[in-house]
Amino acid sequence: MTKGNSKIVTSNQQGIHPNLENVVRRHLAHANQKPFSEHTLVAFAQAQAWIGQRENPLILDACCGNGESTLTLAEQHPDALVIGIDKSIHRLQKHNGESDRYLLLQAELNDFWRLARQAGWCLYKHYLLYPNPYPKSVHYKRRWHCSPAFADILALGGELTVRSNWSLYIDEFAAALSVAGIEAQCHVYISAAPITAFERKYWASGQTSWQTRVLL
Ligand SMILES: C[S@@+](CC[C@H](N)C(=O)[O-])C[C@H]1O[C@@H](n2cnc3c(N)ncnc32)[C@H](O)[C@@H]1O
Repeated sequence: MTKGNSKIVTSNQQGIHPNLENVVRRHLAHANQKPFSEHTLVAFAQAQAWIGQRENPLILDACCGNGESTLTLAEQHPDALVIGIDKSIHRLQKHNGESDRYLLLQAELNDFWRLARQAGWCLYKHYLLYPNPYPKSVHYKRRWHCSPAFADILALGGELTVRSNWSLYIDEFAAALSVAGIEAQCHVYISAAPITAFERKYWASGQTSWQTRVLL
């Protein structure tokens, strides 16, 4: 369904996926053993070198798209080091701005999160703004909270913010957190100014944003 120029998420799934609890429990109990992609190993080494010996609070902007939110977060947290990750070079190349306080990297998050966890990163803040929703019920395992990466996301700690224009995604993310013993709420997110390209697009077409925020 389209309203304005932006698609409203529609799904054949009614309510939290019935397999969510099982799949989350399995991922929390078993480590992901997949080999790392070469380009993400290189990107992670770049991130480590950029951080160097600095001990500033670390903010990760996962699925940063064109990096607009990464830049905004760096402006909002002048004492922090902000890293934006996206797999799409096409999106990253649309970035407008430059600063030594943030770093944008093309990487596969399934690998990047696992590498960060293995390296013992402890995040100050972690943003996951408008991840791909994969609304078809059959694709539920592609959603981050039903993927092996969920365990790594939790292990990285900090204040985690997940935002979507699909309320069920946030309901499910909160349900997955609850399986991990973390209480979370899903609420409407409203702000004076959008901080990502997708947020701007959704709000311009009259859509609502949903959010969960927890301290891990
Ligand atoms: C809907 S867009 C949102 C982008 C941005 N946060 C925004 O709100 O404008 C989702 C983004 O997630 C990125 N993405 C999806 N899967 C990814 C993965 N496995 N690793 C890294 N980035 C991924 C996509 O390339 C895309 O830019």
